[in-house]
Order: sequence, then structure tokens, then C-alpha cells
Amino acid sequence: MAAFIKVATTSELAPGQAKKVEVQGKAIALFNLGGSYHAIDDTCTHRGGPLSEGQVQGDVVTCPWHGAKFKVTSGEVLGPPARAGVASYPTRITGSDIEVEV
Ligand code: FES
Repeated sequence: MAAFIKVATTSELAPGQAKKVEVQGKAIALFNLGGSYHAIDDTCTHRGGPLSEGQVQGDVVTCPWHGAKFKVTSGEVLGPPARAGVASYPTRITGSDIEVEV
């Protein structure tokens, strides 16, 4: 059953930053886009690059390995060489905790 799980605190993730977190065996990339938090799978669907280490421009992250682009807010793929999007997960803030629903 899906549940919200604390993955970080808001002080750990400044606006514009990303962080890899592990939740129930899943590697998830957590992003702070100007104060709103978004969680998508960390693993690029092309060859497994770490999206939490990619460059973020607006709401788009570029995979650091070969440049595929994904929408941070939905996981949708926006640019090759990846062809499939990644999963996205609901987030919420409780006090100063960032929680992800997995
Ligand atoms: S592993 Fe991400 S673009 Fe190749």
C-alpha cells in the first residue's frame, strides 16, 4: 500500500538543488524547484544515468550521461536518447519534512 515516507528535510534541499534518496529500495531523485518539491525515478531509462546529478533548467532535468531530458514535475521524457519517461511520485511537506508517496 502506498504511504508517505520522510526522505529529507527542507533545509537539506535549497531551491534549484536535487538529491538522490532511497525509499523502499527505489532510487528517487528529489528536486526543489523554487520551493516546490518533486520526486521522480533517479534512474534514466536510456542507460541508467543518475538524474539527481543532472542539470536543471526550469522544470527540465538533463541526464548527465548522454543528455536525455525529462520533465521534473511528471517524469515525462522530453528529449532523446531516452524514449520512455520515468515514474513520478507525489510529495508533501509535513513541518520541515519532505515526504514522498511510494
Ligand atoms: S543514461 Fe541518460 S541519456 Fe543515456
